[in-house]
Parts: sequence; structure tokens; C-alpha cells
Amino acid sequence: TPVAVLFGGHSAEREVSLQSGAAILAAFQAQNIPVEAIDTQDDDWLERVTHHHRHAFIALHGGDGEDGTVQGALENIDVSYTGSGVAASALAMDKVRCKYLWQGMDLPTPLFAELNDESDVAEIIQQFGKVIVKPSCEGSSIGMTIATTAEELSAAYLAARAYDDSVMVEQWVQGAEFTVAILGGRALPAIRLETDHGFYDYDAKYIADDTRYICPCGLENKLETQLQELALAAFSSVGCEGWGRVDVMQDEQGNFYLLEVNTVPGMTSHSLVPMAAKAAGLSFKQLVKEILTLSLK
Ligand code: DAL
Ligand code: MG
Repeated sequence: TPVAVLFGGHSAEREVSLQSGAAILAAFQAQNIPVEAIDTQDDDWLERVTHHHRHAFIALHGGDGEDGTVQGALENIDVSYTGSGVAASALAMDKVRCKYLWQGMDLPTPLFAELNDESDVAEIIQQFGKVIVKPSCEGSSIGMTIATTAEELSAAYLAARAYDDSVMVEQWVQGAEFTVAILGGRALPAIRLETDHGFYDYDAKYIADDTRYICPCGLENKLETQLQELALAAFSSVGCEGWGRVDVMQDEQGNFYLLEVNTVPGMTSHSLVPMAAKAAGLSFKQLVKEILTLSLK
């Protein structure tokens, strides 16, 4: 039976998922592996998978496709799927709960607080200084803003609230951003991201052509290994499986801080996991096949 490539969906990252899905489909087709594209925005998607498929490649980002709900539906109909299971997907989608977990495990992550209203904004700015405000359960930097004053923090809170009831404020880490792709229990070469935007935002990720992706990342070997070990620890602390990508900041003293784990990272032409795979000697076609194979183990 053909592999069902699940893509699209209803989330704010739908556009990204359409691109990931198209790239994954093309990679399977180029290898003569039978596939069927299924947009989970269609009401009958689950029925189609139930009747026609035995395993699924999940290429959904954000919301219902990455947060464990689609994974749960597939468990119910006994269809195997790529990537993390229900609980790990749900946890990884919730940035603030991941950070509570990492705090409890002594894994480094920037200082943070959950914001429930605008009453504490002045106090938070006083305590944290520059912050970045994030909806807890979004991806691709959607709804994220930097704030350095109480007024900016109020506005940033409202912008994030438009996407999620849970809003997290995180202390800004001045330094460099890295990302580490995980494939089948090993960390791939780290990538350093540089942007002239204030941070690696939606535009820097998908639109701008001046974002710099540096791989090999420029860290000395020992430090890159330390970064990869931290990424693997974060990935397994959440209970993730198969593949994913861990985003990390490094401050100017060289310390690493975990930002988040992505269980269905972007697979578009300028996405990071394919770039890291390439640096490890895996083509996009091989990568897609490997992710599928891992789901069958
Ligand atoms: N949330 C996007 C798709 C990523 O992490 O690559
Ligand atoms: Mg993310």
C-alpha cells in the first residue's frame, strides 16, 4: 500500500507544511516509492487513511498535526507513522511545559515566566531586561515579538495571545543561535543561524534571502559535541522518537540554552534538517526514506 503523506492541515503553519509535503512527495516519487498526498484539512482524511494505508509520513507543522492529536488518531486505526508519539508530540508543542521539565532536570534553558495578563509586565522587564514573547504552542516564530519596555511587553503579550491562551516570556539570550537535527538517535552536524532581523523570525526563515546558514557551524569540535549532547538530552527528556530538531542559543560566555524541540521540523527547500543531513552525507531522498524506515522499527 502507498505511504500516506499527511500535509497541509489547519494550523498557522499550513503554508510551510504545503511546501514540506510537496518536497517529501517528490522525494518518494523520485525513488519509485508509492505515495498518496493527503491534506488533513479535508474532512475525510482519516477515513482515507483507514481504508487505504498502513503507514503515514507526517509532514504537518504546528497545531493538530504536530501536537499529538493526529498521532492519536493514527494510533486508533493502527497505522504506523513517522516521528514522535502522542505524549512526546504534545509536550514538545508546549514550549513552557518543556521548559519546566528541563528546569527540573537541570538542563539549561533561558529564564522564563508564563504570562496570564498584563499586570506584571513592569516587574518582568525589571527582572529579565530584554525578553522574547512567544505563544506557548506555535511554530515558525509565529506571534513572537522582542520587548525591552513594559509597553512593548504589553503589546507583545497581546500579539502572542492572538495565537494561544498560554503566553511565555523568555529572557533574551544575547549571542548566537544554533540548531541540531536528530535522526535515529544521533545528532547531525549543528547549523549556526545568522540574521540581520532582530531574531530568526518567520520572514528570516521563509522569505528573506539574506539569512545565513553556517554548517560546519564554526564551533570547535569539543563544543559542537557538547551542543549535540545537550540536543540529544533535550530530545530524549521529552520522549521524542525518530527525528526532530532542537533549537539552542549560546550566550557570549559560550554557555548553551535550550529553546525548544521540534518534532516535525520543516522539510522545505531551505529547511534546516535537510541541510544538516546533507552535511552528514545524506541526500534529501535518503533522508526522507530514513525517516520512514525509522518509523517501522
Ligand atoms: N516549525 C517549523 C516548521 C520548524 O521548526 O521547522
Ligand atoms: Mg518550533
